Amino acid sequence: MITELKRGVFWVGAVDWALRHFHGHELSTHRGSAYNAYLITDEKNVLIDTVWAPFQEQLLANIREVIDPAKLDIIIVNHAETDHSGSLPAVMRLAPNATVVVSKRGRESTEGHHHQAWNYKVVQTGDRINIGKRDLVFIEAPMLHWPDNMFTYVAGDNILMSSDAFGQHYATASHFNDEVDQQALFQEALKYYANILTPFSNMVARKIDEVLALKLPVDIIAPSHGIIWRKDPLQIVKKYQEWAAQVPEKSAVIVYDTMWEATRLMAEAIGEGLTEEQVPYKIFYAPVSDRNDVITEIFKTRAVIIGSPTFNQGLLPSIMPLLEDLKGLKFQNKIGGAFGSYGWSGESVKIIQEILANCKIPIVTEGVRAKWQPIAEDLAKCRQFGKTVGQAVKK
Ligand SMILES: Cc1cc2nc3c(=O)[nH]c(=O)nc-3n(C[C@H](O)[C@H](O)[C@H](O)COP(=O)(O)O)c2cc1C
Ligand SMILES: [Fe+2]
Ligand SMILES: [Fe+2]
Repeated sequence: MITELKRGVFWVGAVDWALRHFHGHELSTHRGSAYNAYLITDEKNVLIDTVWAPFQEQLLANIREVIDPAKLDIIIVNHAETDHSGSLPAVMRLAPNATVVVSKRGRESTEGHHHQAWNYKVVQTGDRINIGKRDLVFIEAPMLHWPDNMFTYVAGDNILMSSDAFGQHYATASHFNDEVDQQALFQEALKYYANILTPFSNMVARKIDEVLALKLPVDIIAPSHGIIWRKDPLQIVKKYQEWAAQVPEKSAVIVYDTMWEATRLMAEAIGEGLTEEQVPYKIFYAPVSDRNDVITEIFKTRAVIIGSPTFNQGLLPSIMPLLEDLKGLKFQNKIGGAFGSYGWSGESVKIIQEILANCKIPIVTEGVRAKWQPIAEDLAKCRQFGKTVGQAVKK
């Protein structure tokens, strides 16, 4: 079923209610997702993006509600990732002479995915294509989320089709921001930002400044995932500015793993120390916690405290994916700490500290180790460690 955003501009995408993991199994999507594709009917018929291939028949059926897909003149590929260009071959089979509009990097990525000699037109920032009553204006947005990304601005209708930027993995019955659960919407928008866009925060901030400086009237921001921002559309732009600045809350997140609970007792004692300093915290037991949800909490917080017992002279494996993410996401403005129990060689705290240092997360104070099960003296050290971290958080 289609939805008309403005006269002659239609949402023709697909809502994926069942999706629970994305990028393979890299990203959890507790609330499903939507692949948004848009159709504009004018003197030229334009499709902006497609959907993930399993939904291609739905995309074609949606287009057919308005026009015969064979009548498409232009297909804009704002981003060639499979969730958006997966149905491009199916569309191009029906409209083989359509022009495929891409950024310079988009040509590479589209060819790299589909290996087809389509009729490409490469555009860059500021280029316009007249399609009849309207002009389409292109703004390259590299690394939001791949080098190929671009925004398509529909002049006259004042719609910014922003590709992955401002999106959320959130399946909803309504496509509009004013008709959905606000708490869930912002939680999903933040999770998306934290897990996908954090490393490109500087580019996000610069791109927003650049687009705002153009002073384009914006009635609607239509991303390629989740809901469409039509009520106060700039609210999500302001949120992105805030998130890109990465100013943390005065709080802490403790993530640990344990085999026989020694390291858990240490985690909880560290929490007591934070409480003594009135610093709020959350504790996550890594093997049963969703990594992407933990990352979202780490995104918000100032102090990241990681615990693992020593296991085969290393860490318990469940901690590693999280540390890999801390490295890749390049969080700014964090401070860190490490703790863990051990039996004989006791390397875990040193290893965590080294990894945090590599992630440019400075250690507040030397981490705490407890030999075997912690005794009162060990737990007192943990409480003191929590207090020291808490004081650093408040600074
Ligand atoms: C499979 C296994 C491997 C271990 N490897 C080491 C090790 O290489 N060095 C060490 O100091 N302790 C090692 N230990 C001992 C644990 O670190 C110790 O039992 C610790 O108290 C466990 O803490 P937990 O209760 O938080 O799991 C190992 C324990 C197990 C079960
Ligand atoms: Fe993407
Ligand atoms: Fe996407």
